[in-house]
Amino acid sequence: METYLLDWLSLLLRWAHLVVGIAWIGASFYFIWLDNHLEPSSDTKLAGDLWAVHGGGFYHVEKFKAAPPQMPARLHWFKWEAYWTWITGFFLLVLIYYVGADLYLLDPAVRSLSKGAAIGIGLASLIGGLVVYEALCRSPLRSNDAALGAGMLVLLAAAAWGLCQVFSGRGAFIHYGAILGTIMVANVAHIIIPGQRRMVEALAAGRTPEPKDAIAGKQRSVHNTYFTLPVLFTMISGHYAFTFGARWNWLVLIALTLAGGLIRVWFVMRHKGRAPAWPLILGVGLLCALMFLFVPKTEEQATPVKFEEVKSIVEARCLGCHAHKPTFPGLNEAPKGIVLDTPDRIRAQAAMIQAQTVIARAMPPGNLTQMTDAERAVLARWVRGGAKLD
Ligand code: HEC
Repeated sequence: METYLLDWLSLLLRWAHLVVGIAWIGASFYFIWLDNHLEPSSDTKLAGDLWAVHGGGFYHVEKFKAAPPQMPARLHWFKWEAYWTWITGFFLLVLIYYVGADLYLLDPAVRSLSKGAAIGIGLASLIGGLVVYEALCRSPLRSNDAALGAGMLVLLAAAAWGLCQVFSGRGAFIHYGAILGTIMVANVAHIIIPGQRRMVEALAAGRTPEPKDAIAGKQRSVHNTYFTLPVLFTMISGHYAFTFGARWNWLVLIALTLAGGLIRVWFVMRHKGRAPAWPLILGVGLLCALMFLFVPKTEEQATPVKFEEVKSIVEARCLGCHAHKPTFPGLNEAPKGIVLDTPDRIRAQAAMIQAQTVIARAMPPGNLTQMTDAERAVLARWVRGGAKLD
C-alpha cells in the first residue's frame, strides 16, 4: 500500500513539475522572442512594439525604454512558475533519487557510499554549485562576458566530472541538471525579482531606478536562457542509457551541455534577425560527433547461446524486480512495465536487455543482483545471434 501511494505521489509531482516547468520556460522563451522582435516605434518613450495574433485575438505589445510615465494599477510578475518548478523538482529528487537511492543514486561499481553519505553529497552539490556560481558572477570576471562564460564552463565541467565519480550515471546526470536548475531559480528569486522590485519602488517614489539592477537582471536572464536546453536534456537523460551509462559519461554531459548552449545561442541570434551559422553548426556537429563516438561496437562472430542459459541469468539477476509481483522491497510493480517472466517476454525485450545490461550497464541498477561480466557477455552473444528461443 505504501509503495502504491508513493507511486501516486511520484506521478502527481512529476506531472506538476512538467506543467509548471513548461509555464516557466515557455514564458521565458516568449519574452526573449518578444524582445528580439520589437519593431522601432515613432514614440520616443518606447523601445519598440509589435503586433501578434494568437488564439483568435490580436495583441499589441509595447516595451518602454525606461518605465511607463505612470505605474499601472496592476503589474504582472513572473516568478511563481520558477519557484514551483524548483519546489516540485526538489521533492521529486528526494522521492526518486533519495528515497530510492539503492535503485537510482548508488552504484558500488562507481563508488561505494552509504545512502546517507550519497544524499549528503547530493544536497551539498546543489548548494556548492550555487555558491561557486555566485562567486564567479561577483568576481572581476563579471564585466567580461566571454571570461565569465569560460569560468562557467570550467565550473560545469568540474561538476560533471565530480558527480560521475560518486553517483550512478543516472544520479550524476540528474544532480548536474538540478545544480543548473537551482542556479536558474536562485537567479530569479534573489537577483531578477528583487531588482525589479527596487526598480518599481524607485519609479513609484519618482526616482530613476539604479541601472545596475537592470544590468544584473539582464545578465542573469541570459545565463538562464543558455542553461535551459542542457537542463532539459538532463531531465530526460534517464530514459537514454547510452548517455548516462557511457564509459566517459561525464564527457557526454559536457558535450551535450555545450551543444544545447550553442543551439540556444543560435536561436536567440536568429530571433534578432542576424544569425551566423557557426553556433548551430558547432552544436549539431558536437551531437553528430557523440553519435559516431558511441556507436556500439560489433564484436567477433557470435557463437550461439542456449536460451536455457539466458533464462537462468534473467531469473537470477532480473526477476526480483522485473516480475508482475516484484520481490525487491519498495517496488510495487515491474519498473517501466518490463516483465521478464516468460521466454516470449524476454525475447520481446532482447534489444532493450542488450542496451541496458551490456552497452550501458545500467541494469541491474547499481548491480544490486551482482551480475557478472561473463553473464553480460552471454546476453550480448544471445542477442547478436538473433535472440532465439532454443
Ligand atoms: C533492483 C531492481 C532491478 C533489477 C534487479 C533489474 N532492474 Fe531493470 N529496471 C529497474 C528499474 C527501477 C527500472 C526503471 C528505470 C527508470 O526509471 O528509467 C528498470 C528499467 C529497465 C528497463 C527499461 C529501461 C528504459 O529506459 O526503458 C530494462 C530493459 C531493464 N530494466 C532490464 C533489466 C534486465 C535485463 C535486468 C537483469 C539483468 C534488470 N533490468 C534488473 C530495476 C531493476
